[in-house]
Amino acid sequence: MPTVASRAHEAARSIQKVEAFFKTYNASVNETPAIADFTFGNPHEMPLPGVVSALKTHAEPQTVDWFAYKTNEAGACAYLANALTEELGLPFSEEDIALTKGAFGAIKMCFTMLLEPGDECIVPLPGWFCYGPMLAAASAKEVQVPLDPSSFDLDLSAIADAITTNTRIVVVNTPHNPTGRIYSRADLQDLADLLEAKSAEIGRRIWILSDEPYRRIRFDDLGFTTPAVVYPHTLIDYSFGKILLAPGLRLGYLAISPTLPQSEREELQTLRFAVQMADGWNVPDATLIYAIPDLDKVSIDIASITRRRERMLGALNQWGYQMTKPEGTFYLWGRAPGGDGDEFSRRLQDSGVYVMPGSIFDRPTDFRLCLTATDEMIENALPFFQAVANEMPR
Ligand SMILES: Cc1ncc(COP(=O)(O)O)c(C=O)c1O
Repeated sequence: MPTVASRAHEAARSIQKVEAFFKTYNASVNETPAIADFTFGNPHEMPLPGVVSALKTHAEPQTVDWFAYKTNEAGACAYLANALTEELGLPFSEEDIALTKGAFGAIKMCFTMLLEPGDECIVPLPGWFCYGPMLAAASAKEVQVPLDPSSFDLDLSAIADAITTNTRIVVVNTPHNPTGRIYSRADLQDLADLLEAKSAEIGRRIWILSDEPYRRIRFDDLGFTTPAVVYPHTLIDYSFGKILLAPGLRLGYLAISPTLPQSEREELQTLRFAVQMADGWNVPDATLIYAIPDLDKVSIDIASITRRRERMLGALNQWGYQMTKPEGTFYLWGRAPGGDGDEFSRRLQDSGVYVMPGSIFDRPTDFRLCLTATDEMIENALPFFQAVANEMPR
């Protein structure tokens, strides 16, 4: 008799490579302390003062129910609806916003809302490694569809081929982790046209989950279009964890597209609290909710991330690396010299330089660097990147 539900085993299978990497990474850092850590999107400098002061201010109780159960507090949701209306150009109302524990919480909520057991969800490849386990927990199936291998644009014919009568959601992650690609409005419009036609063909609505936690981390004054502008059946998830570089503060939201037909919009609005509660009170802690208007004004220094992007790209390209220039996010994606990302990352690790091998993203020839590493780490690490490039066969 099984002890544990099969979906727990499925989730574990799906996250296995990342978990194994995390364990090895922790063990290695104990043995060979990092002189440069480019792995996860974690902070390597003290938290932003604006974050600290907002937390201190709002941790101070002003009423007896300050730390009572909190849900989608009207003030916070109204604030976010206004901010989103301005940022995305769509008329959000306070009922369109569900406050969640980060983007993770918002994605979980979307899956609970939309997926029947056995449904399929199309995700980008390479792509973030947690859609799979979360889909497994929802008894649904992850269908990985490769992005265009050179531009990392959405490959519409590959998406069309992957759609079946069980397809329920297509995940669009823009700006994209790990490549930094931002999808153009024209490309999103083409995707919308495809999904409209395919929904009619299979007799069932295919939704877009627009995973936008890096939405405000963009380079070179590039703009941003949310798929919700072109496709009404879109749910948007967002996290404050990236822009504040404080992923341990679990704060985000799920936003319903205001362009949805009114009856469907109201159905989602009506169900949002029940789903959050059923998902385990998927609501941020009270202090974070009060702090939203203050936290929303704080940002990591995009100029520093840009400078690190330039420094790394300039050096790596000069040594023959084939890197992708990211348009957003704080990642750099490229091909490992020699084409073996695992071996490449092992060699760097021996010198205390930690990177993420592409195998974690099912792209074993590649690797990812996280630019939340400090300038000092970058300078420490560059000679090793040069040395490893010389050692590895081209
Ligand atoms: C593409 C993508 N989506 C969602 C998340 C989850 O964000 P959070 O941990 O802030 O909830 C991440 C975090 O790395 C991510 O990269």
